[in-house]
Amino acid sequence: MSIDNASQLIKPLRIAVLVSGSGSNLQVLINAMQAGALPIEIVGVISNREDAYALTRAKDAKIPVAVLSHVASGKRMGIKTFETHASSQLASWQPDLIVLAGFMRVLSADFIDNAPAPMINLHPSLLPVYKGLDTHQRAIQAGERHHGCSIHVVTAELDAGTVLTQAMLEINQKDTADSLQARVQKLEHQLLPWTILLLAKGALSLKDNSSSHQKNTFLPALPLKLYLND
Ligand code: GRF
Repeated sequence: MSIDNASQLIKPLRIAVLVSGSGSNLQVLINAMQAGALPIEIVGVISNREDAYALTRAKDAKIPVAVLSHVASGKRMGIKTFETHASSQLASWQPDLIVLAGFMRVLSADFIDNAPAPMINLHPSLLPVYKGLDTHQRAIQAGERHHGCSIHVVTAELDAGTVLTQAMLEINQKDTADSLQARVQKLEHQLLPWTILLLAKGALSLKDNSSSHQKNTFLPALPLKLYLND
């Protein structure tokens, strides 16, 4: 089966996306959904920032949005209040999968455990190395030869859940943190839709951990490494 007719053969996966910034990864998913290249329906987008350009992208695509940044008094929302509102919003959208795509707040164990669907996160490093922030700068400073991005299951421990997929590149001598970020983002834009397609097709499972993936001959050992061009 080609990726082009994937959406006609598989029941669309209902996806909610959490964002904080530009939303270029969200845009890739919107484009793939609109082109019928991915069997997904983006049922809603939640942003913790009202100035996130991702919101414009979602609204342009007529996708419901929820901006959870400030309380009525104008004060910035604390994480507990954010999670209370996000939980009821997600429950109403009934997603099959929650995608954190450039979402920059740390979520509590309680929120993650009680979420209405499994959650995956896109992280700009080859996990388990370089969890957290400033991954590109840290990889360059450490003299790494390789860098890339990972998609992992979200657990209470930051950037520590099972890594599902990874894409890798070679760091060039002239790379700066900015140029490396741009190069890694090109990989992200391929890795995210491919990972979601694999999940939609059942070629990757979120219920299984790494070892049960290996026991099941039909599922690949994790992480699945995709060799993509930046
Ligand atoms: C991505 O580069 C991701 O690695 C990081 O945040 C960025 C989000 O980019 N966590 P965008 O908002 O999808 O453009």
